[in-house]
Amino acid sequence: MNQDDMKRAVAQAALKEITPGAILGVGTGSTVNHLIDLLANRVSDIRGAVSSSDASTRRLQAIGIPVLDLNDVDSIPVYIDGADEVTGHGHMIKGGGGALTREKIVAAASRRFVCMVDASKRVDVLGAFPLPIEVIPMARSLVARKLVALGGRPAWREGFITDNGNLILDVAALDLTDAIGAERTITRWPGVVTVGLFAERGADILLTGTGGGVGRQEISHKN
Ligand code: A5P
Repeated sequence: MNQDDMKRAVAQAALKEITPGAILGVGTGSTVNHLIDLLANRVSDIRGAVSSSDASTRRLQAIGIPVLDLNDVDSIPVYIDGADEVTGHGHMIKGGGGALTREKIVAAASRRFVCMVDASKRVDVLGAFPLPIEVIPMARSLVARKLVALGGRPAWREGFITDNGNLILDVAALDLTDAIGAERTITRWPGVVTVGLFAERGADILLTGTGGGVGRQEISHKN
């Protein structure tokens, strides 16, 4: 089974996590694109979606699912999204597709975060995948210098503008052993819109696609 087959299998498994008749939070990326393709046969089950990117919005609308403004929605039982890396604690790096800010907002508005990955994205410690950080354009160099001081190697994702009109720095070599601490630290810096660490609010359900099928793990966040 190749990586794309695993993404499709895990998206298929994620369909079971949807609350019928409710509003669904929808993430961004190639795994989510598989999910949206599969949702085409479940349109009547979905009251509407809150989308995390313009790209997912276009795909949802193309299959006839109404896309709602988060401000008009009071409850989202389930948010489904991919990740670039995830630990067994449900801590994630996200933002490879640049949609991290809206992803974090929709995740925060949702009761359960269902994360879909293929096995290659499961890690013990985050950080082999460069950490995406969305920054206000005028703060790009300021934030980059602070990341270097923290031991990181930031690279400007040149030519890429987020849906919010901002820039992305992709940061290699950061020590993310304490993912919650790093998320809190970087989030505080002026000019940072969103850091692509999703640790304070991690995944609640982790679906992992492997050659032998899809594994499901419920993560407790009691600590
Ligand atoms: C989008 O900004 C990201 O957070 C995606 O969720 C992440 O990059 C996973 O993408 P794929 O499903 O394409 O691997």
